[in-house]
Amino acid sequence: MNENRVRGKFITLEGGEGSGKTTVISRLSAYLDRRSLTHLLTREPGGIEISEKIRDIILDPHNTAMDARTEALLYAAARRQHLVEKVEPALKAGNIVLCDRFVDSSLVYQGYARGLGIEEVWNMNQFAIDSLLPDVTFYLDIEPELGLSRIAASMEREVNRLDLEGLAFHHKVREGYRKLVELYSDRMIVIDASQTPEQIEKDIIQAMEKGILKDL
Ligand code: TYD
Repeated sequence: MNENRVRGKFITLEGGEGSGKTTVISRLSAYLDRRSLTHLLTREPGGIEISEKIRDIILDPHNTAMDARTEALLYAAARRQHLVEKVEPALKAGNIVLCDRFVDSSLVYQGYARGLGIEEVWNMNQFAIDSLLPDVTFYLDIEPELGLSRIAASMEREVNRLDLEGLAFHHKVREGYRKLVELYSDRMIVIDASQTPEQIEKDIIQAMEKGILKDL
């Protein structure tokens, strides 16, 4: 750990499909605004040029030959750039950073769900994150069936092809997050994401007020 880092507060949100992360994170941002707390609202890959280009490679449907380790390395590369360009400067300035997904997504999606191994993906990511971890991570926990049905309901067009294999993957994602919660019980807080966005927001704010925002 680089002890010279002057730290603001690093807050991340994690969760599977349809967990409502995006809605909730913008509500949290509005809350911080109301409290006049300077913060950066961001997401991986964070809308910075280099990371966007890397993301395009990862998500390009033509890249069917992409190996799982390649995918993990690319996420880590995008993460590194986002960290250096956006997250660290904000933390060094003493601000709060609210980030939609971070290294835990790689541990769960690449490490657990794709089977590369949580520990292997953790080790590989050390080079990217240089020991910088969130102060607190809210994991929005939801049954995959409910999450996926929310997504389907919110779309105008036809339901996505969510075949059985797709569903099994989402179950693995949930299992992976639950393992992380055990591993990192010091910084991970589980939020019941089957609740309304209002209630989810309330639960997170309550946890922040008792913890990370206590002295602010
Ligand atoms: P995105 O469109 O950002 O959706 P979401 O609202 O779910 O965050 O998609 C990001 C996808 O990339 C999501 O399925 C999770 C996955 N992902 C990984 O597999 N590994 C990672 O390290 C990150 C950051 C995301």
